[in-house]
Amino acid sequence: MNYRAPRGTHDIFGEDAAKMSWLEQKARDIFKKHGFEEVRTPIFEESSLFIRSVGQPTDIVEKEMYTFEDKKGRKLALRPEGTTSLVRAFIEHKMDVLMPVSKFFYAGEMFRYERPQSGRYRQFHQIGAEFFCVSSPVADAEIILLACDLLDFVGINEMEARFDNGHFFEMKVHLNSLGCRKCRHVLREKLVEYLISLSNLCENCLRRLVKNPLRILDCKTDSYKFTEIPQLSSYLCDECKHDFDLLKSLLEVAKCDYVVDNKLVRGLDYYTKTVFEICCSDILSSINSSTPIKDAVNCYDQNFKPYYIKARRMNKDLNRRITLAAGGRYDNLVKDLSGQDTPAVGFALGSERVLIVAEKFGSPEFYKSFRKFEKVYVAIADQELFKEAFSFAVKIARNGLKNSKDISVFGPINDKSLTWQLKFADKIGARKTIIFVKTEFKKGKVLVKNMENKVQTEASICEL
Ligand code: HAM
Repeated sequence: MNYRAPRGTHDIFGEDAAKMSWLEQKARDIFKKHGFEEVRTPIFEESSLFIRSVGQPTDIVEKEMYTFEDKKGRKLALRPEGTTSLVRAFIEHKMDVLMPVSKFFYAGEMFRYERPQSGRYRQFHQIGAEFFCVSSPVADAEIILLACDLLDFVGINEMEARFDNGHFFEMKVHLNSLGCRKCRHVLREKLVEYLISLSNLCENCLRRLVKNPLRILDCKTDSYKFTEIPQLSSYLCDECKHDFDLLKSLLEVAKCDYVVDNKLVRGLDYYTKTVFEICCSDILSSINSSTPIKDAVNCYDQNFKPYYIKARRMNKDLNRRITLAAGGRYDNLVKDLSGQDTPAVGFALGSERVLIVAEKFGSPEFYKSFRKFEKVYVAIADQELFKEAFSFAVKIARNGLKNSKDISVFGPINDKSLTWQLKFADKIGARKTIIFVKTEFKKGKVLVKNMENKVQTEASICEL
């Protein structure tokens, strides 16, 4: 029997693994600059923790959680998201009592039993940040701008400008306020009034009408019916309205492009007040690199060649969005999980989605930055030079070459012909091969072969 990775999971190696590490490292640098500290929580937790936090009537809890019992019958779940685990850790380590303000970030695998497709997996990676103890919308603004900065860093934020007619591609912050415990019931009532005026709601929506009507706006089956939902933000209490207005003005001051999206409710129940999603047109299903058309400017594929989009499909798919990053405020969650009353706000981005989009549209800098290490192969033309070549390879792996410190060294491999070694060097994508030949070595020299243009030159060993 041939084993394969389970459906919805994938092995990440080679350049893809390098991209993932690169993205996480860049995120770490950015988070640290903003005063966030890293936290690593377990990959599994008690199932009841997620049920209480994410909410029973949500897709994540109802359909998507990977749950299992351990040998002692404890009910556990692979984490479907990072916020809940971080809040559990925050309370367990008494940070709600000890710390006046806390800022944390995390990066790691999450698990959801979803129908796999491009950009949607059963095991995927999130990079997220949570900001505790500040109730002012200044924290919301900081979190949203941080998410935008990260996307900006990989070149995604500029994409609208890249397609300068603005027609094919758009990336925007979608923003809404769901109110607090004081005004949420008014929003609910208005929404229920509207929803019961519609006919033919699906079974799921009818069930949620009683338990959690806000969740209905997220329904994949019925969402097309909700064309005239009441403007929920006009029913906010004074405090929520003030906070929402202040947040919008802060984003404007920071020149962050946003739209108020009345339908945005998010798929997790812990949110209060601000919710947001940073979305782009669903390009994952509509890109085809081999179909050149006009209008795509400043986009490059990984060989730095201009990248084009299939226009017709793109237009058709424009209504579909994919969410690259999302989050919001959750002022009740710490208390609901038995901690102190602690306001909080955060976001998470999906690393795979961000990398797929960046890969299709990223600037040449994106590729250059994670292809930092130049591959160098050390070969031997004469077997008796194996030890000398080996010690040279160890030396340059430790110290780099004079002209490039960031190298990745392969070889030497003994008992193989030079032809085999050169073919191997080509296969692994070595930029140059340093060849130990008896006659040259006696003069303190080696041959350096440029693997791209195949030009071979002599070089003194001590000058390399
Ligand atoms: P979420 O919207 O469920 O929010 O997930 C955040 C991001 O993770 C999504 O925008 C998407 O990019 C990515 N993502 C979600 N599901 C998948 C999947 N099956 N495959 C690939 N990528 C996926 C949360 O998880 C919240 N904890 C965010 C948050 C942090 N809110 C406050 N703090």
